[in-house]
Amino acid sequence: MINWFVDFKKELKEVGQEVKIGIDNVMESGRFVMGPKVAEFEKAFANYVGVKYAVGVGNGTDAISIALQALDLSKGSGVLTTPLTATYTGLAINMAGLTPVFSDIGLDLNLNHKFFKLPKILKSSDQIKAVLPVHLYGNPCEISAVGDFCVNNGAYLVEDCAQAHGANYQGKIVGTFGDLGCFSFYPTKNLGAYGDGGAIVTNDEDIYFKLRMIREGGQSEKYRHDILGVNSRLDEIQAAVLLVKLKFLDKWTARRKEIAKYYLDNLAGVGDIRFPKVNSVSEPVYHLFVILTSRRDELAKLLSEKEIKTGVHYPIPLHLQKCFSYLGYKKGDFPEAERASCEVLSIPMHPYLTDIEIEEVVWNIKGFWK
Ligand SMILES: Cc1ncc(COP(=O)(O)O)c(C=O)c1O
Repeated sequence: MINWFVDFKKELKEVGQEVKIGIDNVMESGRFVMGPKVAEFEKAFANYVGVKYAVGVGNGTDAISIALQALDLSKGSGVLTTPLTATYTGLAINMAGLTPVFSDIGLDLNLNHKFFKLPKILKSSDQIKAVLPVHLYGNPCEISAVGDFCVNNGAYLVEDCAQAHGANYQGKIVGTFGDLGCFSFYPTKNLGAYGDGGAIVTNDEDIYFKLRMIREGGQSEKYRHDILGVNSRLDEIQAAVLLVKLKFLDKWTARRKEIAKYYLDNLAGVGDIRFPKVNSVSEPVYHLFVILTSRRDELAKLLSEKEIKTGVHYPIPLHLQKCFSYLGYKKGDFPEAERASCEVLSIPMHPYLTDIEIEEVVWNIKGFWK
């Protein structure tokens, strides 16, 4: 069986010994929450991303929600994002008491900065108080254009980097372009914990202190709750795991890039396969390797019969999710995202795939069109 996401058994062979030592140390220390491992990881991760501060939280959804809460926007303010993302992106906006506003995607399957077409329910972009672009599949969006929109419209820029640890745009790592960057360490992510985890990065000291307060119940000091916070902390065991795995991240990313190159070279021109556009100034980290084809479901079925597991990210765009029906969108509002949701297929991508396995994937996909 060739899986589309990381092979944990192989990963454990590489990192298991060191991770177990890290976990043992935590168990012996008796500090399980908000201790030295979290502090050490926050420092190491901030350093990796190239920012002053990182704040560990419970998961990527909380990272986005807490980042938005730290901006003190008035209740119900609009946050512009893409309809083609993990539903958690939209849920996080909602959790922060804000209103998701969707706009259609472009050829890179990211928020289409060229026209930021706003839905009819919004009269103008004045109602957008923050923009939340998603570096989907690890492919940086046109972040400088998104940044320009934010500057011109007085909106905050918060990046959803849940799938894009270490991806860069014009040589700068994503998560550092706006006010805040949000990461998920869900186990299958490029940098994944052995449980849930997330982090928010920023260069702004005031925002940093606010984030720290919000994640711990809004406390300014022990038992003094000054603002309405939440309870969302990265725990010591996950921080210990992440500290070990962070050291392998660049090596794993390099292998992901090699595999992506092989797929791009060998699947171009096969059937009606297309790839999400990669900006010439971007270096994606290929969290997922996604192809688009009008025969997506047939191809997925054939690959599954050949023991090659694929995924669909994502089959239902957010504006058509039942949970967002209160926003009043309907089918046809974002035709590009709707079409992509019927055509995207994530084929196997993780650092432990062997050359033989990726050749087998390509061989079977080519066979489908013969
Ligand atoms: C783009 C995106 N945003 C947000 C999230 C939420 O992260 P988490 O699952 O850690 O809450 C995910 C992960 O599922 C994601 O892929």
